[in-house]
Amino acid sequence: MKNTQDSVDELNQALNDAAAFNYVNNSLRITLREIGHSRMLIENLLELLEKLKPLHKIQKNLKALHIVNCFHRIFRKELDFIYRNRYEAHRHEFFSKNVFPFIKNKEPHVVDLGCGRGWVSKWIHDAKITQYVTGIDAVDFQADWKEVKASNGLGLDFKQVPVANQKLWFKEYLKKLSQKHAPVSMIICNWVFHHSTDQELRKTFEALRDSVKVGTKLLVIEDACDLKVKPKHNNSNLYESWCMLANENLKHYSRSQFHAQAILDFVAVRLLARYSAVEMCFNYKTTSDWIHLLKLYGFKFQRKNFIGFPKFRDIAVPQSIILFVKAL
Ligand SMILES: C[S@@+](CC[C@H](N)C(=O)[O-])C[C@H]1O[C@@H](n2cnc3c(N)ncnc32)[C@H](O)[C@@H]1O
Repeated sequence: MKNTQDSVDELNQALNDAAAFNYVNNSLRITLREIGHSRMLIENLLELLEKLKPLHKIQKNLKALHIVNCFHRIFRKELDFIYRNRYEAHRHEFFSKNVFPFIKNKEPHVVDLGCGRGWVSKWIHDAKITQYVTGIDAVDFQADWKEVKASNGLGLDFKQVPVANQKLWFKEYLKKLSQKHAPVSMIICNWVFHHSTDQELRKTFEALRDSVKVGTKLLVIEDACDLKVKPKHNNSNLYESWCMLANENLKHYSRSQFHAQAILDFVAVRLLARYSAVEMCFNYKTTSDWIHLLKLYGFKFQRKNFIGFPKFRDIAVPQSIILFVKAL
């Protein structure tokens, strides 16, 4: 099991991996410019990463202290503006183009597991591909959920459910919800699993295995590389740069790929999105690993799409979409 010290050590090693750091440096200059960030913010952010290289600095800053707080204070307005007006707008487009086509049938009731602030739940709801959306998260995002619901709350609900209570929630609360609305036909998890430790994943997957009906779909969007196929998108040839971090005859991520992913995850979550309560577990797996793991919990692989490196994402990490269905 990973704990906070593991995360600190992981990030410290990542920041001190020259090849990974070089990839992060080059790719952030491309991606952050593309979504509209100023040169000043980009240079400051890269300097901040440089400053975090000593172990004692990252120990203090993983939970958004001092250096990170300072960065947030200086760039608060720009971060707010880009997050709301560019980043989320591009993400919405990403969903419309790449994810919604996976939701072909009109789903009666979708559960957005690990919904975060809840904007994706709202887009799913607004796209009219489902009647009801219930967003749940291990962390409390009440203030954001209120705001999301205020714009159009009908058929949209949110609830904080700690991982330890998920089994019970799925069995009891969800049963009641299904009776009140419609049976849950799809679970969607967007960039959730790599924020869970293996132990938490086991609890979540057991909860799903023991409570969802046969035939329920599970749609997973992850920062995951498909090592067997070429990506659908290759913005600024970032795929080639990413592959250069790998060893030959690759079956799993190389250390440097893993490190690059860890630094960029930290940038996206702690520095840009300013999610301070979300755990950084750095639990990256390839698409094959996710397929193998979910099979152990009764989810049969249906279809996948290696999106790769699309334009207008804040960080350049490989993106995959994988569809499963609950089997007997
Ligand atoms: C990077 S955020 C993504 C949020 C949202 N899905 C989105 O795309 O905007 C990951 C979220 O997953 C939640 N999370 C991680 N592991 C979880 C688990 N096992 N069960 C429920 N929520 C989880 C975290 O609390 C966090 O809010």
